[in-house]
Amino acid sequence: MPISYSLVHVAPDAVETPLLVVVLAADPSLPSALNGIDRQLNGAIARTLGRRDFRGGRDETMLFVGGDAGIQRVLLVGRGAAPLTRAAARRAASIAARQAGKLGLSTMHLYLPDAAAAHVEGLVIGAGAGSWSYPDLQTQPAEKDRRARLEQVAVVASDNADVRAAFAAGVAIAEGQAIAKRLGQMPGNYCTPETFVEVGREIADRHGMGLTVLGRSDMAALGMGSFLCVAQGTTQEPRLVALEYNGGPEGQRPVVLIGKGLCFDTGGISIKPAPEMEWMKFDMSGAGGVMGAMEAVGQLKLPINVVGIIGSTTNMPSGDAVKPGDVVRASNGKTIEIINTDAEGRLVLADLLVYAKRFNPAIAIDAATLTGAIVVGLGHSAVGVFSTDKVAADEVLAAGDAAGEPGWPMPMWDDYREQIKSDVADMKNTGGRAAGSITAALFLQEFVDGFPFVHLDVAGTAYSQSDLGWIPKGPTGTPVGTFVEFVRARARA
Ligand code: BES
Ligand code: MN
Ligand code: ZN
Repeated sequence: MPISYSLVHVAPDAVETPLLVVVLAADPSLPSALNGIDRQLNGAIARTLGRRDFRGGRDETMLFVGGDAGIQRVLLVGRGAAPLTRAAARRAASIAARQAGKLGLSTMHLYLPDAAAAHVEGLVIGAGAGSWSYPDLQTQPAEKDRRARLEQVAVVASDNADVRAAFAAGVAIAEGQAIAKRLGQMPGNYCTPETFVEVGREIADRHGMGLTVLGRSDMAALGMGSFLCVAQGTTQEPRLVALEYNGGPEGQRPVVLIGKGLCFDTGGISIKPAPEMEWMKFDMSGAGGVMGAMEAVGQLKLPINVVGIIGSTTNMPSGDAVKPGDVVRASNGKTIEIINTDAEGRLVLADLLVYAKRFNPAIAIDAATLTGAIVVGLGHSAVGVFSTDKVAADEVLAAGDAAGEPGWPMPMWDDYREQIKSDVADMKNTGGRAAGSITAALFLQEFVDGFPFVHLDVAGTAYSQSDLGWIPKGPTGTPVGTFVEFVRARARA
């Protein structure tokens, strides 16, 4: 069940709710809007604050039990001493949603005193993040033992156009991230290239976008020997899915978003070691991010043209699989010597980048779980941002910061290019261990012709293997936020 979000314009003490969440800054005093609620609780909140049992530290919570009607429970959530930002609101709402989930409450109301529009947006995104789950494949407990899942989130805020727009934007981003997370969590036998066709079709139908779906023979006709060599070892039909959103003037060059969609990456003939190979179901996170971003863009009805392109397949060893030493030809005519079949993402992206040119991009940005090396270099807290165009890179970095998905710029100097020179083809698909993320980015650049390009390596950030407190472990939704903020900023400019 997807969550339904609503915006209510009533005094916080007048709501009827199983759970009223109140977000408070450090060392809080009782907000005057809560006087009525505090009376209902016989002064328990004021006493608690007076005793400093609740101090409003970041992620601190305190639950109050009320009566059977009106406000049945109050949850105070601290947001700490730092200035109130959209990110702080998001974090507090996520903590609240996780608590509501533990209590088994299907409805909660969120109240942040003096919330501005941006904070309302953050509250909605946070509620979506904290309540996200993927229960599809687990048998549910018997009805009597089951705890309800959060289904309805209401934000209590003032009524003005800015708040309403921010609320709608929050819903768009939350639902876009939910799409990306769901795809990221689905096992490889559930999320297949066909799943991207289905999800792409749903998004296209919902928002009146153009949809193109290519299969093996279509891609062969376009000469996509690079993408297709990755799909050589699987019986599944590989898919290229393109969504075209035309919110801007006709003829306006679009922002093109590109995603790596490996539904599973065994490594192929250069097979990966068994330990932790199961994580490689997340190797479609770039493509999931493109789908989520297109959903958000469609909901936001932004006045700009945006194209989303994903390439989806599964990297499998087989008697037919591509081998180290093989040479393949991409759709721009360039030849590639396959050194390691596990460097497959860049082979898929190469043909997507050539395909992108037909849309005459204003800029293309790809997101890919491309290299283990970026996890070594930047860990799980920063997206690797690569571009030969500093202005474009800065624009994407700003979008990532705004989204709470920070990136870090990486060099793309020519010196590194030596590492991917081949004796038999135009280039090799790997450049050895040194600077592995950079040589991957330089490989991609070989397929970009005539438009600014930024590559996002999200291998460290698309999935969290540990519970982050406010974000449950699992898929994080990155890079949906970065894509949406980038497109939003362009639409405003
Ligand atoms: N999908 C992986 C990247 C990856 C590895 C993400 C580990 C997260 C954790 C990618 O297709 C891959 O296998 N890359 C190789 C490239 C190498 C063979 C040059 C890698 O990073 O080991
Ligand atoms: Mn690989
Ligand atoms: Zn991969």
